[in-house]
Amino acid sequence: MGEERSNLQHCKFEVPEIIFGRGLLNQIGACARRLGGHKVFLVSDAGLFAAGWVDRAIRHIMDAGLEVILYDNVTSNPKDVEIEAGAGEYIRHGADVIIGLGGGSAMDAAKGVAILVSNGGRIRDYVGPDKIIRPLPPLVLCPTTCGTGSDVSQFAIINDTENRCKLTIMSRCVAPDISLTDPDILETLPDEFVCTTATDALSHALEAYFSVASTSLTDVHAIKALRLVSNSLVQAVRERRPDDLENLSRASLHAGMAFSNSLLGIVHALAHPIGGLYDANHGSINAILLPEVLKYDIPVVTEKLPELAWGMGQAVGVSTSAAAEIVQEKLGAMLDAAGAPRSLRSIGVQREDLPELARRALKDVCIVTSPRQAEEKDLLAILERAY
Ligand SMILES: [Fe+2]
Repeated sequence: MGEERSNLQHCKFEVPEIIFGRGLLNQIGACARRLGGHKVFLVSDAGLFAAGWVDRAIRHIMDAGLEVILYDNVTSNPKDVEIEAGAGEYIRHGADVIIGLGGGSAMDAAKGVAILVSNGGRIRDYVGPDKIIRPLPPLVLCPTTCGTGSDVSQFAIINDTENRCKLTIMSRCVAPDISLTDPDILETLPDEFVCTTATDALSHALEAYFSVASTSLTDVHAIKALRLVSNSLVQAVRERRPDDLENLSRASLHAGMAFSNSLLGIVHALAHPIGGLYDANHGSINAILLPEVLKYDIPVVTEKLPELAWGMGQAVGVSTSAAAEIVQEKLGAMLDAAGAPRSLRSIGVQREDLPELARRALKDVCIVTSPRQAEEKDLLAILERAY
């Protein structure tokens, strides 16, 4: 065939309509109106409200001639109870379009509300692949961090407050109608969240690239995201240059398109139970686990390593063995320079919980596409090394 890789024989690649550019938050109302909305249910979080972006969004929505109902009762690691309450508010106000404006939590909460107002029941009824029957109301998602990828993905991750675990909902239905990114919003994002959300994007890109469901279409986006994060993460955290912040926004989008279509691996399979048990920052958990999972995966992904090294800034032409060293060194150096947390202990994980976390990770949907099949003892060993 003359192709380097012929993995497009069975391939599906889905993305929403994408609008990306500085200053384009002013399109938010026009997007909702274009989808037929009259009364917007705006899901956001209180932190973003304090930075002034919610007020601006409301003004743009009203300028487009639409009414707005603001729902900002959403916390990090969005909770089932917040989403079920939000669905009640949507119905009570007679809203007809949903906008999620925020990080992954606000956007996943918006997806959850959309599922419940059209399909009823409890959010836990939709856990797993393709459980949603009825079409969702029009949905616009506007990311305000640089890592989640929820604005283009077919996933919603919700915390089950009774069982202290993450619920993973996977359906093409939860990808929004429109993904709208205005990188200017990152200028008010604290350094800590620039780092942790960008390391989430980095993890999405690496895991998507290694996934057994990856294709040349997802690889293109994964490698692009890696290059952008490698070039801009440290400078974005230290110097806050708008061009670097925009690169991280763009990286989040590319990584989101990659992982939504190729799924993920062990980092996220472990991050979900950790986030469920401790309500810890998702990007921080990923930054801690990523070097150990990369080390574990390397023996089965050797042919992909030279391109990965190139994606992380190495010149072309390195051998697979040299590439294995290079990617581990570059990843560790980048995480250290950006100030990412490097141990599970440092974010409050208890050592006695590690066996239970390994058991839960084996049941997570992300484990299915890991390039290296892992047993419980392998996952426990990764957790021990990351502790
Ligand atoms: Fe993630």
